[in-house]
Amino acid sequence: MTIARADRLGYVAMRVEDVERSVEFWTKVVQLEVSDREGDRVYLRGGMQHHWIVLEPADGAPGLARLGVEVASRAELDAIEQRFADAGVAVESGDGFADGYVDRFVRFNDPSGNPIELYHDMVTMAVPPKPVNVELWDVQHVVLGQTDVKAAEEFYTDFLGMRVSDRMGRRVTFMHFRNGWHHGIGLGSTGRAGLNHICFQPPDLDNTMRARARVMHAKIPITRDLLKHGPSGSVGFYCQGPDTVVEFSFGARRFGEDEAFKPRLLPTNRETGDVYQTGLGDAELDILQQLQRENAESATAAG
Ligand SMILES: [Fe+2]
Repeated sequence: MTIARADRLGYVAMRVEDVERSVEFWTKVVQLEVSDREGDRVYLRGGMQHHWIVLEPADGAPGLARLGVEVASRAELDAIEQRFADAGVAVESGDGFADGYVDRFVRFNDPSGNPIELYHDMVTMAVPPKPVNVELWDVQHVVLGQTDVKAAEEFYTDFLGMRVSDRMGRRVTFMHFRNGWHHGIGLGSTGRAGLNHICFQPPDLDNTMRARARVMHAKIPITRDLLKHGPSGSVGFYCQGPDTVVEFSFGARRFGEDEAFKPRLLPTNRETGDVYQTGLGDAELDILQQLQRENAESATAAG
């Protein structure tokens, strides 16, 4: 019998300070396409799904409005909803077609208060988005701030059927969905809920470097330049968008559904964050970090 579990990261909805300024970034730099506008809310897509990103005006503090997680079948979504009911955890569920472009949703907060929506069957567009310079396979992962990483790990395992891929000490736990990418959600010990970053997945180095060129051309600060992560093995870079940090990286490890593996407990040192820094002493690493900070600051000043 198949055990119900979440399939993939679907979308990230954010409350933003200036919707039009954000649309400019998401369309020109990330090259997503506006799929719908409804009042002040803007839906953007990079594939056949109706949306990967949703922007809405911040009525108060900007930040994560909702993280959308796709469940492959209605039967699995119902089974997961039943899990919440059996555990006495309150959720909101209903038909999301009219205002969210999904057939059915189940909404709740994770233990730190991050708003999550599990959904089945988002609207599929009839035609692909117009061609762009940087191919993106998917919106691959987010990292969410947590007050208690261990409690969050148990929650995502028990209710969503996610699996722990690796841990970086007690600070970060990487968890994967059924689609197998090393992490669909990273849980970071930040002391509070919130969106740390969104990662998009180009297929290869060429697309990643073209993304980097676009980011630099738009004078968007690169906050961590080309690096290779120890846990997932992905190669990419990070930049500071108007709403959140955006990562582009390719080559992440992918777990098979029936693959036997043991999550590693990795150290929280610089080489785990970037294996390319192997062999550099502390003095050289300090210089490297200072250079990256200066580059990011000069891009911010120029922009
Ligand atoms: Fe990441």
